[in-house]
Amino acid sequence: MNFDRHRRLRSSAAMRNLVRETSIAKKDLIYPIFVIEKDDIKNEISSMPGIYQLSLNKLQEELKEAYEAGIRAVMFFGIPNEKDECGTGAFIDDGIIQRATRLSKELYPDMLVLADTCLCEYTDHGHCGLLDDHGHVLNDETLPLLVKTAVSQAKAGADIIAPSNMMDGFVQAIRSGLDEAGFHNIPIMSYGIKYASAFYGPFRDAAESTPGQGDRKGYQMDPANRLEAMRELESDLAEGCDMMIVKPALSYLDIIRDVRNNSNVPVVAYNVSGEYAMTKAAALNGWIDEERVVMEQMISMKRAGADMIITYFAKDICNYLDKGA
Ligand code: PBG
Ligand code: ZN
Repeated sequence: MNFDRHRRLRSSAAMRNLVRETSIAKKDLIYPIFVIEKDDIKNEISSMPGIYQLSLNKLQEELKEAYEAGIRAVMFFGIPNEKDECGTGAFIDDGIIQRATRLSKELYPDMLVLADTCLCEYTDHGHCGLLDDHGHVLNDETLPLLVKTAVSQAKAGADIIAPSNMMDGFVQAIRSGLDEAGFHNIPIMSYGIKYASAFYGPFRDAAESTPGQGDRKGYQMDPANRLEAMRELESDLAEGCDMMIVKPALSYLDIIRDVRNNSNVPVVAYNVSGEYAMTKAAALNGWIDEERVVMEQMISMKRAGADMIITYFAKDICNYLDKGA
């Protein structure tokens, strides 16, 4: 018989472990957390079972759990008490993200804080930038506000700035703003490849950031486009981004691979809220094996080329890994 015996390398668990090409470790995980300015709230998001809007006092407990599970990177999203047309809550010194960041750095100095730099949770119209009279999102006029937001996040102690607003030139603007304020050493993890996706639905419930009018298709990318992602990548690299996020992740594994093959910066997969919600819903119905499906999804993002994964499953994955997954 003259054929390849591929099964030789699948013969036992030890053999399979030996030849395994991809793995997932706690250090790869970034855990997103929703922080609400109101007092004493722990409010489960109905479309994201196990994920909560947390007041600062409850955040403390969540950080402890995450830290003890082995997570060393968190990303904060804020839900402010007040919203206005220019998203002032995003860049004030005692804004909710700034306060959450200070608290986290004080309690767990060695846990990295990533700050999402965007205005949509803070604007009363729910868009990621300033609007003109016709409801169009203004690009260049929005940049200085994003710079202010990033600098105030850095001042509060954020270790990484992660801008998700999709204005053109945001990396360059934020880079020079951070440098001028003395934050040369704070990296930018750009969400420059962000598709206008229906998979963000549960996040918008959680962050209370659904646009009042219209959608985000005028600034986020068309899901049909692959080459366009390479143009976004090129400009973000030229503008000085240090790491690149692809978002969403699971329906965009080809894009993750493209970024991996066309750059040498760390690649980050954002396993978004809708991906979490779908998996959770099926698991809660008993239709799939949650642990195995989650781990398979994580491996698929790593295999596609991601170095890191932002995921609402981060704590669960740490527990799976502890059990020997
Ligand atoms: C804000 C932002 C969004 C997400 C991360 N940052 C939502 C959006 O653009 O509407 C989505 C994350 C998720 O769905 O988990 N710009
Ligand atoms: Zn936004």
